Amino acid sequence: MSETNTVSRDATGPIVREKSTRTLVAVEGISKYFPVRTGFFSPPDLLRAVDHVSLRVRKREVLGLVGESGSGKSTLGRLFLRLYEPTAGKVVFDGKDLSRITAAELRALRRRMQMIFQDPYSSLNPRMRIREIVAEGIQIHKLAKTKREETERVAALLTKVGLTPDVMDRLPHEFSGGQRQRVGIARALAVDPDFIVCDEPVSALDVSVQAQVVNLLSDLRENLGLSYLFISHDLRVVQHLCDRVAVMYLGRVVELAPRDELFEHPRHPYTDVLMNAVPSVSGQKKKLAVLLDGEPPSPLRPPPGCAFHPRCPRAIKGTCDKDVPKLEAIGPDGEHRVACHNPVP
Ligand SMILES: Nc1ncnc2c1ncn2[C@@H]1O[C@H](COP(=O)(O)OP(=O)(O)OP(=O)(O)O)[C@@H](O)[C@H]1O
Ligand SMILES: [Mg+2]
Repeated sequence: MSETNTVSRDATGPIVREKSTRTLVAVEGISKYFPVRTGFFSPPDLLRAVDHVSLRVRKREVLGLVGESGSGKSTLGRLFLRLYEPTAGKVVFDGKDLSRITAAELRALRRRMQMIFQDPYSSLNPRMRIREIVAEGIQIHKLAKTKREETERVAALLTKVGLTPDVMDRLPHEFSGGQRQRVGIARALAVDPDFIVCDEPVSALDVSVQAQVVNLLSDLRENLGLSYLFISHDLRVVQHLCDRVAVMYLGRVVELAPRDELFEHPRHPYTDVLMNAVPSVSGQKKKLAVLLDGEPPSPLRPPPGCAFHPRCPRAIKGTCDKDVPKLEAIGPDGEHRVACHNPVP
């Protein structure tokens, strides 16, 4: 099946792309509960970090994942890569249920899924040279026949991420944050992946280099046809890069929509508040906590019904505090989904 992905970009605006429709990777009804002890003598409680989430990433798509700290974004990212064993639910990659394939098949598929981490300081082994860091995956998956071929591959990867091949024999501490993140990206690309989970890939970087790294990620996905799950709390970055956006609250997806739709017409009261916290042109950022009552509740003791109801300006007594709303299509084409009993009109 052929797939067209017409891309256009004007000088400053966000990336505009015709949507692709084929699914690359999906989680279906996936949950991750962590047993945690809250007291010496009490039995472990279950912390519902991710609770019954179904979400798919299409081929060549960037799916953004946003939400407050502790809402379960990183846990969901790890579930997508099967770095965590799910408590319930499954991951389907390129049509294969990852829980039903052999260890050898899983190893082979692992090559096609990679992760880029938030902190380019701790994610690179300080004792390994850049060459070794980038070549590790090439060696594990035997992607080069000779040492020379391996070196050539590493050199090409470094060039691809905007570094010069002569940095190969240096150590991570000799580089700036932005350069280290480029090394992290080269390491992820080394095994020719299709799908990359980017977990806050620019949050630890100076604001001045964030845009460069975001643009690099954007160019790479364009040129290499990659799909990303892009986790970020920076809505400006999400607006720039993502095709669709999922909003998480306390372990659940509360809204899912094409980017422009979500930013222009958020339907979940929580998304509505999130959008109001986006910095304005003058750089004044309204804090979420100011816009919402109190802190988010603990995932150890989520409120009954809709977990957002205690902070929600549109909560309906007797409904929102009782029934958990399902993520359901709102609007004609089914692309915009919201889990809310009383969505923003
Ligand atoms: N290994 C673990 N054991 C116990 N609890 C965990 C574990 N990992 C995460 N959690 C808890 O699960 C919830 C979700 O955590 P997660 O790191 O996925 O959130 P997040 O949305 O990525 O937050 P942040 O924006 O701060 O990175 C939190 O309450 C967290 O404390
Ligand atoms: Mg996280």
